[in-house]
Amino acid sequence: MSKPAGGDPAPQQEHWGSKFGVILAVAGSAVGLGNFLRFPGVAVNNGGGAFMIPYILSFLLLGVPICWCEWTMGRLGGRFGQNNGPGVMYALWRRGPAKGIGALTLFIPVVVYMYYVVIEAWCLMYAIEFFKGGFGEMFADATRGLTDGKEIVGAVVGKAGDYFGTTTGQSENGGMLVGSLPWMVLICFVVNFVIIYRGVTRGIESFCKVAMPLLIFCACIILVRVLTLPNISTGLGFMWNPKWEALLDPQVWLAAAGQIFFTLSVGFGLILCYSSYLRENDDVVLTSLSASSTNEFCEVILGGMIVVPTAFLFLGAENATGGTFSLGFLTLPAIMHFMPFGNFFGGMWFGLLFLAAVTSSLSMLQPAIAFLENGFGLKRTGSVVLLGVITAIGAAPIIYFSHNLTALDHADFWCNFSMILAATAQVIMFGWVIGAARGCREANRGSDFALPKFMPFMIRYITPTFLIVVLGAWTYSTLPGYIEGMSPTTRGVSAATAVYRPVIAEHFATDELSAEQIDTRLLELVGKDARKRPLPDWLGEHETAAEEAREASSDDASVARMVFIGLIVLYLFLLALADIACRNNIGRRIAEAEARGVRLE
Ligand code: TRP
Repeated sequence: MSKPAGGDPAPQQEHWGSKFGVILAVAGSAVGLGNFLRFPGVAVNNGGGAFMIPYILSFLLLGVPICWCEWTMGRLGGRFGQNNGPGVMYALWRRGPAKGIGALTLFIPVVVYMYYVVIEAWCLMYAIEFFKGGFGEMFADATRGLTDGKEIVGAVVGKAGDYFGTTTGQSENGGMLVGSLPWMVLICFVVNFVIIYRGVTRGIESFCKVAMPLLIFCACIILVRVLTLPNISTGLGFMWNPKWEALLDPQVWLAAAGQIFFTLSVGFGLILCYSSYLRENDDVVLTSLSASSTNEFCEVILGGMIVVPTAFLFLGAENATGGTFSLGFLTLPAIMHFMPFGNFFGGMWFGLLFLAAVTSSLSMLQPAIAFLENGFGLKRTGSVVLLGVITAIGAAPIIYFSHNLTALDHADFWCNFSMILAATAQVIMFGWVIGAARGCREANRGSDFALPKFMPFMIRYITPTFLIVVLGAWTYSTLPGYIEGMSPTTRGVSAATAVYRPVIAEHFATDELSAEQIDTRLLELVGKDARKRPLPDWLGEHETAAEEAREASSDDASVARMVFIGLIVLYLFLLALADIACRNNIGRRIAEAEARGVRLE
């Protein structure tokens, strides 16, 4: 075991109140919508039980080691008086790239907050609607007079879908602004910022100490309710019977790694911030593992056994798969119609989702708050108001451009991409810049048990290799499609094509045109100058539909492009701020700490 890093601690540093408190705060950050909404959808769509193999491997090879790296670096950074990503990174590596990684650790949480808070508001809205009994009435109306079981299920699912589509404004931009949603978003902002304003111990820690046990308790009640439903084992079988062929699909491995990062909130600066509030000799090894295990319990046991099995049981296989949002906000409310005391359980479910979301979104704000305070000497009021304004400006386009949830989806996509990038940068920094052996010695200081002997090797070689392979595969398989999706012309043409193609194919069916010839015709018709060319009558009658499709799709593509450009601008802005702060306040505080004798052993 190495000697302490030496030197006096930074003056007036804020610290966590208790070990239990830290674990709950970090677990609170980890346990969120990712566990209860994202995980079930990802698992059932990526091989069911077979998904657990890449998932557990990613947990062991990526999640756990990167957690240890990040906890260790954060605690170390705290010794230099830094509670923010750029400061911690710069304290440990006095070079330009550290600022770039640091800016990424501000960027990711803040951008995720901008859309996460919107989903948080949906949860709040749904919880209130359930407790008011609104869903019960709505479904009763929809099924009035129906007797056939299948018809009833169809009507309820359809109604739930309509409600979700309308309240979240998916059919046209600006749709989210009608109804109560804007108020819900406002409430979420107020709740988050009030807690943040109270500080790490009195705000985040106190809130998580109440919210976490409460939400786990509620989830356990719902789980017991679900497991005592007759025939639930068929639903569990639907979710968890392994489809082994999925293991050959690289997309499944990507999904598993992506899920691990998102759910543990590891790799992009949030743990860096939370662990910087530890004291020098507080344990990081066991604490980190406890928080991650709590998250895994909530994810696999609570998240994995509730949503999909019940959906299968009540609504059948066709309604038990589907995207993250449709499972959570469409299928789940529908199930409650068929459950005794559905209004109560529905309200409880969305209430617990809301709590889980708040404990997570707090953790997205704290890194930036700490940055504004450490880096620019702002007081709490100033940092809270400034960050409130910045995140509100960012959330506005996410809320406004709600058509097909385009803005939200694209922000999420680029964040996921940046997460893997940031995690790779961090683990390389720990393994190669600080040095894995030295880093692991530092991790062991004050720890309740020592890291396994093979950790340095793993952190230096295995974890980064795994990450680089994942990043490479992701870039190769998913990126081109996304980039193409940002071109209004390409997207517009392919939407118009989709309208014309069947018509043309049918018209020429007797001429036996080859697929290629049809495509050539198509391109002539839907390409840029299509409107100048008179269309034959048989095709002309579809022109309006095609033009509408073209317009809608190219609008979506423009939104996607705008989101992308906006994110780049935001990143560059944060990079400039990080640079200024490192040259001034952050640099000065690091130098002061060094003068007190703090340094890396
Ligand atoms: N882990 C959280 C969840 O499962 C999500 C989350 C919390 C997160 N903090 C984050 C995601 C910061 C990205 C960045 O829902």
